[in-house]
Amino acid sequence: MTAGLAGLAARVDRRLPELLPHPAERPAAVHEAMLYALTGPGKRVRPVLTLMVAELFGERSATVLDLACSIEMVHACSLILDDLPSMDDAALRRGRPTAHRAYGEAVALLASLGLLNRAYALVAEAAHRLSLRRYTTEDMVHHLAAAIGSDGLIGGQALDLLSRPEEMNLDLLEYIHSHKTGALFMAAAELGAMAADARRKDLEIVARYAKNLGLAFQIADDLLDVLATAEETGKDTGKDTKKVTFVKLLGVAGAQALAEELLGFAVTSLDPLGKKADPLRELVRFVSRRSR
Ligand code: IPE
Ligand code: IPE
Ligand code: MG
Ligand code: MG
Ligand code: MG
Repeated sequence: MTAGLAGLAARVDRRLPELLPHPAERPAAVHEAMLYALTGPGKRVRPVLTLMVAELFGERSATVLDLACSIEMVHACSLILDDLPSMDDAALRRGRPTAHRAYGEAVALLASLGLLNRAYALVAEAAHRLSLRRYTTEDMVHHLAAAIGSDGLIGGQALDLLSRPEEMNLDLLEYIHSHKTGALFMAAAELGAMAADARRKDLEIVARYAKNLGLAFQIADDLLDVLATAEETGKDTGKDTKKVTFVKLLGVAGAQALAEELLGFAVTSLDPLGKKADPLRELVRFVSRRSR
């Protein structure tokens, strides 16, 4: 990561553990598992996106940092679930055993829900503290709920698991990617903009950017599943062999071309914001070059 990105990710890393109950506090096993899943060495792309968007519209308070951390909590929650034996059945995450391998399935599930609930509490607190002119606390909580719900991330994860290869086509695959991954990227950007009391028009701009970035991010993830080693990615590779991905439908070169095209759309959507959106352009370059 470059300095800007790395600096913001480091701010998130420092704050994350402070926002959880102490791991020795009862129920210790669940609190430990929450801390384990949340603070493992992830890239922090989503909270960095929240911070960049908020800063772009003039807000860089400690409250925004907590809001950004709540997005990372939702992400960690989704990763615990994604790795479960009944889902992707993964052994490795961020270079370490998955949460259910380390703590057992029951504790992992409770930790996942613990993170999700902590995230909602944080969003409500942050929204209240910011006391915005254009957006209410309810707006922000609803926004996150819609992004995660059954017509958001959960919907994408459901169809990722339930779709049969013979019914797969580009349209269904776009639904899956834009929901399981795109929706949280969009919420990360939109909540960042809301936290800065940005105009609705600006919210739409960053939402379009984040949607394309998120889709490209998931295609890059599917490419890494085929092209990279577990050492490089820190997670099991070859997990998608039974799934239909853009790599399967379009081939490696076709998927790479589509990811680059989407990243191009993301950059173009920033045009109305001018130079102050440069950090978001840097984030596009990071996604384009990422190897984990
Ligand atoms: C993994 O997300 C799940 C996907 C949506 C592809 P990341 O690649 O952001 O995982 P971490 O947070 O860096 O571990
Ligand atoms: C997961 O997609 C998306 C979410 C966690 C919502 P993947 O199943 O491809 O993610 P990895 O490869 O396990 O990180
Ligand atoms: Mg999955
Ligand atoms: Mg997975
Ligand atoms: Mg994957």
